[in-house]
Amino acid sequence: MKEQIFQQVPPGGPWPDLKRDRPPPGAEFELIPPNYFAPLDLAQVFGRTAPLEVDLGCGDGAFIAQLAARFPERDFLGIDKLGGRVLRGCRKAARLGIRNARFVRIESSYAVQHLLPAGSAAVVHLLFPDPWPKRKHKRRRVVQPAFLESVHRVLAPEGRFRIATDQEKYFATIRELIRPEMFAELTPPPGESFPVTAFEKHFVAEGAPIYRLELRKIS
Ligand SMILES: C[S@@+](CC[C@H](N)C(=O)[O-])C[C@H]1O[C@@H](n2cnc3c(N)ncnc32)[C@H](O)[C@@H]1O
Repeated sequence: MKEQIFQQVPPGGPWPDLKRDRPPPGAEFELIPPNYFAPLDLAQVFGRTAPLEVDLGCGDGAFIAQLAARFPERDFLGIDKLGGRVLRGCRKAARLGIRNARFVRIESSYAVQHLLPAGSAAVVHLLFPDPWPKRKHKRRRVVQPAFLESVHRVLAPEGRFRIATDQEKYFATIRELIRPEMFAELTPPPGESFPVTAFEKHFVAEGAPIYRLELRKIS
C-alpha cells in the first residue's frame, strides 16, 4: 500500500508546476539578518542612510508598504513573528514597486533589544499589538518595562513612538509603564494622517473605540 502511494507521486514531486527552485515573488524585500547576534547594518540593508520607521507586529504589511510608497525619502522596516505575514508584506512592496521597505521575521522584543542599532529609528509604530486579555497570559504582552527601555534605546533623539490599541485595559497598563524621564506624551500634529491598518479597519467597522498614544524620546 505504502509503495503504491509513492509510485503515484511523479518524479520531481507531487506539484510538477510549482517552480520551487525560484524564490517567491517579493522575496527580495525579506530581510534575513546575516547575524542574529549583532546589530543590523542598515546602510547596507537599504543601500543608503535615511530616516528609518519601524512597524512592530506589522501584520499584512499594508501599513508600512503604503507609508514607504508615500515617503520615498525614508526607509521602512516591518517586523512580524509570522512568516506568512512577512511574505504578504513583501508581495505588497513588490506590487507597489517601492525600494525603501524591508520585512523581517522575528520577535519584536528581540528585534528592539538586539537587532536594531541604538538611535537608529526616527519612528517606531506599535499598532494593535496582540492583547492577551486573560490575566494568566499578561506576561505574553509585548509591552513590558524592558521592551520600553529597548524602544527608547533604538529611537533617535526626539524620535517618536506611536501606539494604538482597541483594548482599554492594555492601554491603561501601557500608560502606567511609560517612564516620564524617558518619554513625553505628544499631541499629534493636526493634519498628520497615517494609512489605516488591517486591524484598525476591522475595529472601526465594529464600532470599537481606538486608544492612541504618541510619545517623544526625551533623554
Ligand atoms: C493584532 S495584529 C496587528 C497587525 C497590524 N499591526 C495591524 O494593525 O493590522 C498583531 C500582529 O503582531 C504580530 N505579533 C504578535 N506578537 C508579536 C511579537 N512578539 N513579535 C513580533 N510580532 C508579533 C502578529 O503575528 C500579528 O501579525
